[in-house]
Amino acid sequence: MLKNKDLLGLKNVPKEEIQLILEVADEMKKIVRSPHKKSPYFVGKSMATLFYENSTRTKSSFEFACSYMGGVFSSLNVATSSVNKGESILDTLKTIDSFGTDVIVIRHSMSGVPHVYAPHVKAHVINAGDGTNEHPTQALLDMLTLKQNFDSFDGLQVAILGDIKHSRVARSNIWGLSKMGATIKIFGPETLLPTGIEKMPNVKMCKSVKEAVKGADAVMGLRLQLERMTKGLIPSMGEFNKKFGVDEDMLSLANKNAILLHPGPVNRNVELSYDVVDCNQSAINEQVTNGVAVRMAVMYLLTRDNKIRSEI
Ligand code: NCD
Repeated sequence: MLKNKDLLGLKNVPKEEIQLILEVADEMKKIVRSPHKKSPYFVGKSMATLFYENSTRTKSSFEFACSYMGGVFSSLNVATSSVNKGESILDTLKTIDSFGTDVIVIRHSMSGVPHVYAPHVKAHVINAGDGTNEHPTQALLDMLTLKQNFDSFDGLQVAILGDIKHSRVARSNIWGLSKMGATIKIFGPETLLPTGIEKMPNVKMCKSVKEAVKGADAVMGLRLQLERMTKGLIPSMGEFNKKFGVDEDMLSLANKNAILLHPGPVNRNVELSYDVVDCNQSAINEQVTNGVAVRMAVMYLLTRDNKIRSEI
């Protein structure tokens, strides 16, 4: 069981809960991989997704997770919903809540939106990305991928490269991985490093891609979040690729068994070279599979005890 009603970020989730989610996700992965993807863990329960921002992997994987556990779901198409008639986030959420929804998955371009509104609904709220703040289930699936490739998180070195400033994925990974005992090596353009990043737990700032990748057990590329950027933060895509991109030669400087991670969507030949995306060390497709397993685990664990829900 998880302590909180909602999963809004990893900053306040204790290590034991992260461990529990990853253990349950390991079991859920067996269902994802089985020929009959049916389990009873969400039977009689419902999920709604509310995505104010684009998504391919996250939204679909929540839908698959729900289906594989026997639940029902509804995905609100924000573009064709009453949001365009001026309905507020709170009213939209309360409407979805009133359908009897057990889990609401929300993504919004503004940091803090799930945190502000979750206390106003009975449903368990899962943050599927709020602005530049957090994206907890992405970091959990990244951690599941690491767990499946390495004996322990203790002393593991994970290099995170590129647009750190706008990346909720980087932030959630730093909170989560540091609790598990890993070191996070950070490198990106000065203009794309958030202030205070060096003070986050277990963070080691690097001066080049080479320094970050050398000796790393995992290398994570990040998309340039152009939709969150003011102009002039990078000279050009080509320049960025030359100075901050990862190709197979660069990846060869990492440890022998190192894996390549990326939350997707990848912009090939920008943060990662075209070929490195599909190289033997790439775990990018495995991350997608793990995304379904992690979301099954989180939805199952959040709704296992509905005591909190009925107390509201
Ligand atoms: C990420 C996100 O939305 O923060 N994508 C995802 O959820 N897999 C990263 C990105 O959009 O670049």
